Amino acid sequence: MKEPKEVDGIFQADNPMPEWWKLVWLLTIIFSIFYVIYFHYFSQWGQEVSYQLEVQAHEEKYGKQEKMVVLSEDGSNPFRDKEESIAEGQKNFQTFCAACHKADGTGLVGPNLMDEEWLHGDTDALVFENIMKGITGDRLKTGKGPMPPHENSLGAEKVYQIMAWIAKSNATLKKGQ
Ligand code: HEC
Repeated sequence: MKEPKEVDGIFQADNPMPEWWKLVWLLTIIFSIFYVIYFHYFSQWGQEVSYQLEVQAHEEKYGKQEKMVVLSEDGSNPFRDKEESIAEGQKNFQTFCAACHKADGTGLVGPNLMDEEWLHGDTDALVFENIMKGITGDRLKTGKGPMPPHENSLGAEKVYQIMAWIAKSNATLKKGQ
């Protein structure tokens, strides 16, 4: 054992660390090596694998998510000219839009959607935006109140179906942007 010394008034014995302490230190190093190997090559704790497992568990419980709506190449409504979508769209138009736009879409409080006049845009992309986000504030043109948003109540797929129905009867609703 070395001579004890005093530095800045602090007594310093300079004893070596006890054997048991060194042993614990060595064990943590050995543990960490095995842990790293186990974690990366054998466990399911990595974020990629555990994410997959969580998704799998979710799908088992709630079923697979419906496919997202994939736009046509030019950005136009993917449901144009699809009979099934048009029928579904007409049904939802009656429930969600007819109160303001009339059952045949020719307008009440909301403007006529079956004529050639479009106040806020006449393309799939613009009309989609108008229905999803609604029309409020400075954008209003008719002075008959706002157009409510439908992105939460309907969502993209149903809105495109409704637009497919409108497009069927109104050729002035253009494809694309
Ligand atoms: C509470 C009444 C109301 C409901 C419900 C409603 N709208 Fe509207 N909508 C309006 C009003 C009012 C306007 C015109 C806003 C303005 O003054 O510019 C409008 C405008 C629009 C426009 C723009 C028309 C243009 O000329 O550019 C579209 C498209 C439209 N609505 C579609 C729909 C669809 C589809 C639904 C159902 C999902 C719907 N609306 C539900 C009141 C409504």
